Order: sequence, then C-alpha cells, then structure tokens
Amino acid sequence: MPVSAHVVGWGYYLPSRRMDNETLEKQIDTTDEWIQERTGIRERRIAGPHESTATMAVEAAKAALQCSQLDPAKLDLIIVATITPDFIFPATACLVQDAIGATQAAAFDVSAGCSGFVYALALADQAIRAGSARNVLVIGADTLSRFVNWQDRSTCVLFGDGAGAIVLQASELPGGVVGTTWGCDGSGWELLYVPAGGCRQPASAETVSNGLHYLRMNGREVFRFAVGVVPRVTRALLEQLNMDVGDVDLFIPHQANARITAAVARQLGLENERVVDVIDWCGNTSAASIPIALCHAIETGRLKEGDLVVLAGFGAGLTWGAAAIVWDRVPTALPRGWLAFYYRWRYRLAAWRSRLRRQWRRFRDAISMRLHKRWREL
Ligand code: ACO
Repeated sequence: MPVSAHVVGWGYYLPSRRMDNETLEKQIDTTDEWIQERTGIRERRIAGPHESTATMAVEAAKAALQCSQLDPAKLDLIIVATITPDFIFPATACLVQDAIGATQAAAFDVSAGCSGFVYALALADQAIRAGSARNVLVIGADTLSRFVNWQDRSTCVLFGDGAGAIVLQASELPGGVVGTTWGCDGSGWELLYVPAGGCRQPASAETVSNGLHYLRMNGREVFRFAVGVVPRVTRALLEQLNMDVGDVDLFIPHQANARITAAVARQLGLENERVVDVIDWCGNTSAASIPIALCHAIETGRLKEGDLVVLAGFGAGLTWGAAAIVWDRVPTALPRGWLAFYYRWRYRLAAWRSRLRRQWRRFRDAISMRLHKRWREL
C-alpha cells in the first residue's frame, strides 16, 4: 500500500518581547503610518538574550509533539529550516534532537530563506513516501533580529523572530501532503544576503566595522520577484494535481509584506476569506512564517477536515516552493490526562541524558590525555 505524509501535530513559539512601530519611531527615521501602509506590520517579536533559533525551535517542537501525542523517541528525522542557525555548524536540528530526546532521529538543517519550511516539508514528504522515515518533525525557525542593522530603516522594520513546527506521519489513508514543488534562480543571490561570516569573507574586526555581518536586501526587486513567482508556482502545483484555484480552501503564503500577499491573492483570484495574513502581529519571521500562519489558521478554526490548504514560500536564493495538503488528523495513542506530566519528564530525562553524555566524554578525554602523557614519559 502506498503511504503518504499526514500532519498529526503542530505548534509555534514567539518570544514574549514585543516591538511595536511606535518603539521603532523613537529609534530611526520612520513612522507607524509608513510601516503599516507599506508592509502591513504593526508589531514584531524579538528574541530575548537567552533565546536563539534552537531554543525557539525546541519550544515549537515540544508544542507540535504534544499535539501529535507522539513520543520523541519515535521520530526518525528532524529537519530545521533556518537561515539564522545557532552555529555555522553543527546544524540547529542536532541541538533540537538533543533537547527533546529524539534518540532515534537523524537531523539536519535546510537553508532556503523564507522558502525553507516548504523545502523541508517536501523533503520530509519524500522521506516518508520512500519508506526511509515514518515520523518526521519539520521546523521553521529564524532569529533575523540578530542579523538586521537596527539603523537601516529599509530592513529592520520588516523582520521578527519565531518558530513553527509540524509532525508528519506516514499513513496508508488518503490525503495528507498531496503535492509539492520547488525551484530556484541563483542569479538573484545578491538581492538578499549577509555578506560576511561565511568562508568567502570570514568574520573579522574589519567585516564588523564595515557592517558586513548585517542582512542586505534589494526590497523592490524581492517584491517584484515574489509577486511574479508565487502565483506561478501555485498554479504549477495545482496543475500537477489536476486542480485549480477554485479547489483551494485556504492559501498560506510566506508572510513578508501584506501588499505582496494581497497582490498574489488578486492575481490568483482568491478572496480574503481563503487567504491567511498574520503579518500585522508578528512581522516577517522568515522560515517560521508559514508554520506560524498555519497554526494560527488552525487555532482560529479556519481549517476543517477535508480542506485543501496550499502553502507557498519565496525567499533568499532566490528560492520558491509550494505544497498542497488535504487536511486531516490521524490521532496516535497516548493517554491524554498523563500527557503534560509525561512530556515534562521526557524532556527532563533528555536534559539529564545530554548532560551525562557530555560529562562522560569530558571524563574519558581527560583520562586518555593523562594515560597518553604517562606513556610518553615512560
Ligand atoms: N520608514 C520610512 N520611509 C522608508 C522606510 C521606513 N521604514 N524604508 C524605506 N523608506 C523610504 C525610502 O527611503 C524611500 O524614500 P525615497 O523615495 O526618498 O528614496 C521610500 O521610502 C520608498 O522606498 P522603497 O524601497 O521604494 O519602498 P517600497 O514601497 O518598495 O517598500 C519594502 C519597501 C517594504 C522593503 C518592500 O520593497 C518590500 O516589502 N519588499 C519585499 C521584501 C521582502 O519580502 N523581503 C523578505 C524576503 S523573504 C526572505 O528570504 C528573508
């Protein structure tokens, strides 16, 4: 029997610190009116000093796992879509794997800008269809507040921090992820990038003093690209499925700018009731924007069983991607009353396990160093 990937859990995390347009008015030459009119953003969330892409991803993952009622040890694969990883390496997904105690899971990151979540979803879907994974955790998480120049009004007003996650599970039932598509035009890489910090220009006092560690963006060109590519990729996906825009119950585009969302919806002939737009309260959260918008649609009762939901991403690269999901929920077994208690202990155990393993490695290293020294002295 062929299997397909079904969404069985979802969750998101936003930092508690809010930054509204009035606060930005006091810091840079901008106005609440300009930001709302040109972007649709009213406020965004900014990660606190102890938060990072990994910590936010872990919170979103925990919410999604609890929703799915799946034991973390049953996960086969964790994919984190991010362009703001905690480290150049290892992958942020490995930090998530350790924190949630997903002892049987492989883990890696996907870097595809704001299309990252759709790319990760497509990879997870293919791993499930190929039979190499049954349960996959897909996360989109970004902390762009650490990479924007807070003196550059053309970029700093746009971005916010956050994370969103879903759990995909193999099932022989029809529905779930019914189609995915993706693409890239690398000739546009300079339209949105961070010049320094990679191997081409490693971080140095000079790169920092020249502000090369900050995000650079040609907003107008990214706008043009988005408005052109999103309708095209959405139509291509629907055609692949022998469907058309009339079959779409809910459309969730990457939340970059309310004007982009409106222009795309207009081109596709989608009325407001079928389009999710949450940018006003969280800004552009990059790879996290689609799962956050998806969770919000679920929370507000906009997704019903049997609905066709289309996700469409675009972003740095330039990349794009779309995914179609027939919404259903395949429940998994775990007693509900015990759930919160069970997960609390599961994560506490994961933290102990991690600490123990790290200490054991340190101890083993110290012993072998001592033995090595003794052997050389003999
Ligand atoms: N406040 C006040 N004025 C501003 C601000 C601001 N925050 N920012 C720019 N301006 C000014 C400009 O200086 C310019 O002034 P000028 O005419 O005197 O030169 C004027 O406003 C118009 O500037 P534009 O850049 O033409 O403004 P535009 O209408 O294009 O809006 C924006 C800019 C919001 C950035 C828009 O181009 C956009 O949203 N682009 C898409 C960006 C995007 O989606 N990026 C994320 C991609 S996803 C990823 O992978 C991370």
